[in-house]
Amino acid sequence: MEPKSDNLNRDDLSAPSPDPWEAAYLRFETPKQEIQKFVARLRKLGAAQWPRNTEIVELFCGRGNGLNALERLGFTHIEGVDLSPRLITQYRGSAKCFVGDCRQLPFADRSKDMLIVQGGLHHLPALPEDLEEAFSEMQRVLRKDGRAVFVEPWLTPFLKFVHAVSENPLARRLSNKMDALATMNQFERRTYEQWLTRPDLIRKLARTYFSPVHESFEWGKWNFVGHPR
Ligand SMILES: C[S@@+](CC[C@H](N)C(=O)[O-])C[C@H]1O[C@@H](n2cnc3c(N)ncnc32)[C@H](O)[C@@H]1O
Repeated sequence: MEPKSDNLNRDDLSAPSPDPWEAAYLRFETPKQEIQKFVARLRKLGAAQWPRNTEIVELFCGRGNGLNALERLGFTHIEGVDLSPRLITQYRGSAKCFVGDCRQLPFADRSKDMLIVQGGLHHLPALPEDLEEAFSEMQRVLRKDGRAVFVEPWLTPFLKFVHAVSENPLARRLSNKMDALATMNQFERRTYEQWLTRPDLIRKLARTYFSPVHESFEWGKWNFVGHPR
């Protein structure tokens, strides 16, 4: 599960990413734009009411913009986990970050108050097996009154419209963002489509491991908050 971000060799990891998905992800949004988006999203999910010393782990944290958003909102006990050392090494902030697989978390049973995933579950290669593993790990790590928070893509009419636009060659030429989105979709197509086409399975599994306190669908996203069962 180690190394922590502190131990990573930044010289090896600072070169442009050779992974085409990562390269497109890095040009889709600037860190500033993504942090602003996450701050607004967390506020909508009720972050103002969460105690500032809540022990929070951002799973699939990538380059840590979700962690930066949590810091900006004043949370003081935050950690991150992501599979990519290259993305984690780009994080600048006070959270402790772990390179690791979210299907096998480096935390003790019942040790965290909140686990947040923003756009990570749809990267898991095998449904339902990997999702069950990830949910089961989250259930193990969360305290009884803890909360799992998921924000993932969902095939709403808005998302269908975005897909149609992003696949249009003219839109791709005119908008760097649309081109980056289409490139990301192309490289994650298998897991992304698998995720988008199994909504009933995903919602059923989420309810197997977590009892929902909030669920909404908007702007192409599924927002789910639940306590571990
Ligand atoms: C869309 S990014 C999430 C971005 C993140 N919210 C941020 O602030 O940068 C998805 C992330 O999932 C990570 N990932 C994919 N499979 C994973 C796994 N099994 N365990 C942990 N991280 C994983 C990728 O490395 C990538 O950083």
